[in-house]
Amino acid sequence: MSAPICVLTGATGGIGQAIARLLAKQGWRLLLVGRDHAQLSQLQGQCENDAEIFVGDLNLLETRTQLADFAKQLGGAALLVNNAGVNVMQGFNEISEQQIDQLLAINLIVPIKLCQLFLPQITAHSGTIVNVGSSFGSIGYPYQTLYCASKFGLRGMTEALARELSHSKVRVLYLAPRATDTAINSPQVRAMNKALGNTMDPPEKVAQALSDLINSTNRRRFIGFEETLFARINGMFPSLVDNAIAKQLPKIKSFFVN
Ligand SMILES: NC(=O)c1ccc[n+]([C@@H]2O[C@H](COP(=O)([O-])OP(=O)(O)OC[C@H]3O[C@@H](n4cnc5c(N)ncnc54)[C@H](OP(=O)(O)O)[C@@H]3O)[C@@H](O)[C@H]2O)c1
Repeated sequence: MSAPICVLTGATGGIGQAIARLLAKQGWRLLLVGRDHAQLSQLQGQCENDAEIFVGDLNLLETRTQLADFAKQLGGAALLVNNAGVNVMQGFNEISEQQIDQLLAINLIVPIKLCQLFLPQITAHSGTIVNVGSSFGSIGYPYQTLYCASKFGLRGMTEALARELSHSKVRVLYLAPRATDTAINSPQVRAMNKALGNTMDPPEKVAQALSDLINSTNRRRFIGFEETLFARINGMFPSLVDNAIAKQLPKIKSFFVN
């Protein structure tokens, strides 16, 4: 019998590659999704269980439809990992209209549309959807306005869908990494994290957390004790976090304002 299919978006990224290698080792047959054919082929060669690749820009309806059709031909997706994402860390005034559209599209609109598109396949397999969010999906952070908007939205959508489907056999999960050592973080962001003493995880830690989440009965997983605590305090007593971040603001600002 062939292994169940896992559709993984953002497979060529730092976290995506680590997830691909781990899930393939655990017996999943991967359908690796990205825009760079050469990188996808290279990763395909590193994955066990005959991984497949799919090249395309997920912002396009045609690409998403073809992806779902291809997954169906392979036997259907039992696991969808919405991992593709981008970030811009800059002052709110400097963000262009185009950046607003692009970031919200790939971080929020595309995962919502893929959840909807893949739901029949996932349902047929009594499967699982994992949406990859961020600690910034629970904590509003300066110079991360767009990213926070997208990840807060993704967290809300995931929670709502999980509750809507709670009487079905489909699981909808949310994984929130903290800062992780990948190309999504610009040199400025890395310098800021260093100055603020923020921990940066290796991508393999995120992959392991995703695997643990899938294999648990939990619906959500936040990585990092301090970040999880901060998110909880922000939920209950946001003014405490307002004050803590206000104290850090001059330092944060120094990395993003000339
Ligand atoms: N690294 C962190 O500090 C961190 C922390 C919290 C959460 N996260 C989340 O973790 C996820 C993975 O991020 P990462 O750190 O691995 O970033 P990354 O290394 O920059 O990888 C991002 C991935 O998203 C893909 N992607 C971007 N736009 C796309 C589009 N229009 N169509 C198809 N694919 C697209 C990229 O593909 P291309 O190669 O084709 O561009 C790449 O595979 C993201 O959702 C991110 O928000 C990351």
